[in-house]
Amino acid sequence: MRSAILAATALAVVSGTAHAADDLLKRSRDLFAPLPGVGSEAKGADPALVDLGKSLYFEPRLSASGLISCNTCHNVGAGGVDGMETSVGHGWAKGPRNAPTVLNATFNTSQFWDGRAPNLKEQAKGPVQAGVEMNNSPDRVEATLKSIPGYVSQFAKAFPKAKDTVTFDNMATAIAAFEATLVTPDAPFDRYLKGDAKALTAQQKKGLATFVDSGCASCHSGVNLGGNSFQKFGVAKAPPESARPEGDKGREKVTSNSDDAFAFRVPTLRNTALTAPYFHTGKVRSLEEAVRVMGESQLGRTFSDAETADIVAFLGSLTGKQPQVTLPILPASSATTPAPVL
Ligand code: HEC
Ligand code: HEC
Repeated sequence: MRSAILAATALAVVSGTAHAADDLLKRSRDLFAPLPGVGSEAKGADPALVDLGKSLYFEPRLSASGLISCNTCHNVGAGGVDGMETSVGHGWAKGPRNAPTVLNATFNTSQFWDGRAPNLKEQAKGPVQAGVEMNNSPDRVEATLKSIPGYVSQFAKAFPKAKDTVTFDNMATAIAAFEATLVTPDAPFDRYLKGDAKALTAQQKKGLATFVDSGCASCHSGVNLGGNSFQKFGVAKAPPESARPEGDKGREKVTSNSDDAFAFRVPTLRNTALTAPYFHTGKVRSLEEAVRVMGESQLGRTFSDAETADIVAFLGSLTGKQPQVTLPILPASSATTPAPVL
């Protein structure tokens, strides 16, 4: 009799847990989605276009100094970031913001911390011209690329229909096509969403439940767990001044609307375990601390150490298969290639 009661209780507990587990999966599927493969810029794209984009991504001659490429600050072998608080560019100048990852950036609905570029193509034109990044001009980039015979033929192959093939605009199209291949599928969390209940550890599931229940997912949702909305940094409480200084009002500068003061494009949390330091200022080095700051500033919640550890464990399940990129052999300069300017 006693053992029958015990068995019944055990059964109830087991089915209760199973029910909670199903519920967590169901709620997760409503909020998030597995990575769908390459981004739209690369879907059905001519391999010649993607190849050209790859060369240009690794091409330091797009910078005035001939030293800095996209990969300098968005190292595809290191989570798509540079690991710096804020990036260092032309003439060792320190830029104002932390470099976000290029991995899965194709799935963000706008680009930059303040969303000032609508897509990867428009984004790619920015850093080449930014004084603190590559410090170049569209004319000089075109002159450089036209002086390199290998690029002239690569552009002709990638843009067979265009009259004027070696253009700044086509450069950006090609880079965007390559970037759209920089996706990281098959993270444990993707496998979980697809139905593999064992893909997450018990602690990661606890962390996921806390992430959903406490409200993190109200901003970090969708395919990228972020990247799809602008939100104020400091909804419940102003974050520490170092993480959110007065001088950078984020989205407000783009829209000139004071309601957007301190709003930023919510960053993706995919591969976040690889992309320290955190926030647009890069002032927070540990993921634990970033989670604590988020709890307090966005939700008005102080997490216990155990809850924080659970969430951090869950965030670790968002690290996917990193893109295997073979380093391109870049075409040789010619006598007319502009000399580097330091
Ligand atoms: C000197 C370092 C540096 C270089 C070089 C650089 N970037 Fe960036 N990149 C940054 C920083 C910093 C930001 C964020 C700036 C901001 O939001 O205001 C950024 C933002 C981005 C973003 C937006 C990601 C997001 O989530 O919003 C993409 C995509 C990107 N860069 C791609 C590129 C490409 C392509 C190149 C080469 C043409 C390049 N970057 C060159 C530092 C750099
Ligand atoms: C109200 C919207 C909102 C909520 C809720 C929210 N976040 Fe964020 N999160 C943001 C924004 C906006 C940023 C970027 C802040 C900045 O740097 O300006 C961010 C940044 C982050 C970062 C840093 C990522 C990086 O690459 O720098 C992490 C990690 C993070 N959030 C995790 C969480 C967790 C965990 C929770 C729940 C405790 C949470 N967020 C709740 C909007 C939100």
